[in-house]
Parts: sequence; C-alpha cells; structure tokens
Amino acid sequence: MLTAAGSGQRFGADLPKALVLLRGRPLVAHATSRIAASGVVDEIVVTAPAGHLDEVHRAVTRACDLPVRIVAGGLSRQASVAAGLASLSPAVEMVLVHDAARPLASPELIRRLVRAVGSGIDAAIPSVPVVDTIKEIGGGDPPVALRTLDRPRLRAVQTPQAFRASVLRRAHRQGAALADDEATAVSDDAGLVEAMGVPVHLVEGEAAALKITTRHDLAIAGIYLDEMAGADGLP
Ligand code: CTP
Ligand code: MG
Repeated sequence: MLTAAGSGQRFGADLPKALVLLRGRPLVAHATSRIAASGVVDEIVVTAPAGHLDEVHRAVTRACDLPVRIVAGGLSRQASVAAGLASLSPAVEMVLVHDAARPLASPELIRRLVRAVGSGIDAAIPSVPVVDTIKEIGGGDPPVALRTLDRPRLRAVQTPQAFRASVLRRAHRQGAALADDEATAVSDDAGLVEAMGVPVHLVEGEAAALKITTRHDLAIAGIYLDEMAGADGLP
C-alpha cells in the first residue's frame, strides 16, 4: 500500500506532496517504479487526497504495469492506511505500507522486507542509526531538557514497513480510536503493532529512503537520484 493522501502542509506547495515533481516525475511515480521493480509486489493500493484521485491514478498507472486501486484518504495517515486495508481482499497474506513521501526506497529494500516477513515473522521495518543527540523535553516555554536518551539504543525508522496482513488488520482495529486526528494517530503502522506486544523486527534501512518533508529534502533526494543515474535501470 502506498500512502499519498497527505496535503504536504510543511512542504507548502499548491498541490499535494505526492504529486510534487522530483526531476520531472511526481514523488508517487518514483515510489511506484521502485515497488514494481522489486518484483515481489502483486498489486498496489494507493491512498490519495479526495480531490486528486484521478491525477494520482494517472501518475501511478504510468509508472507500473501492476493492478492499481486508488482509495480516498482519511483524516490522518493512520486513517488513510485503515481505509486502504479495508479495500484489500481477505486473501491477501502480506502487506507493505510505504509512503509516497519516501520516493527513493530501493527495490532491494522492498525485497529485504518481504524476505523477512516471508521467513515467518509478523512485522519488519527498515531503520538507520540516529546521528543527533535526542532529548526528552518538559512542557514549559521555552522547554527544558529532562533527559538524554541513550543514542546507541535509538533508531530512526523508515518505510516500507512489512506485515503479516492479519497482524496489521488487528493492529488497526485495536488502534482505530486514535485515527481521527493526526495529533493522536500513530505516525507509523509499526507503532500499532508494538502496542499489541507483537515483536517488530528491524532490517537495515537506507539513506536514500529519506522522507521528503520540506523543499530542502526534495533537493537532497535530487542529489541521490543523480548519484543513482539510472544505474538501477529506473528513471
Ligand atoms: N498521508 C496519507 N493520509 C493522510 C496524511 C498523510 O496518506 N491523511 C501520507 C502522505 O501522503 C505521505 C505519508 O502519509 O506519503 C507521510 O506523511 P507526511 O510526510 O506527514 O505527509 P503530509 O501529511 O502530506 O505532510 P504534512 O504533514 O507536512 O502535511
Ligand atoms: Mg503529515
């Protein structure tokens, strides 16, 4: 499943972030090409902003030959994923949830995640070490640092996140009360699975799978794309 229903408020374009162009192609198209090139995905469900279903559909079908279904997104990313999940056939056994905001996650990363869940675990997510020192802060204004987290034990996590479908469905059912507001919703699906006490396994993530939040991130993604220079056979 590819989430693309956000407005991209922090990016600040006049169209949804998933349709913003990176070297002439929408972010959602870059993500789609890589999903298709992985060779391990059978169909793509895409969450799209209600007013842009057709544009997202066009961008995705141009980028791959896989069956594509477009679903209107919800009030939060969590709600969008839940809507996408509801549209899946009960026969589906494994689901990857990926953000169009991470357009350059590689086919190899996707295969790594599918291999992990295929080997019998319930959930696998990509992670990278954290470079900044992370502090827990108090509520004051200005806030004060309460404590410093132990950096070697921290990881920044990415998408795609891969799940046994039954586990992801149950996690979304149990977390559904959080989904109506981005302020209470989880920011990734693994959070819902962790809340059930189900182990979420980490696989090695990649720098190129960065999330595009601002224009600076888009510029950095452009540098990664130039470095790849089609070496992976992808546009
Ligand atoms: N997303 C979604 N439905 C929502 C909100 C977000 O499908 N209601 C998707 C976005 O399209 C994006 C991914 O979730 O691919 C990660 O979200 P984020 O990076 O926060 O994107 P936006 O919500 O669009 O950006 P912002 O928070 O700056 O508005
Ligand atoms: Mg958001």
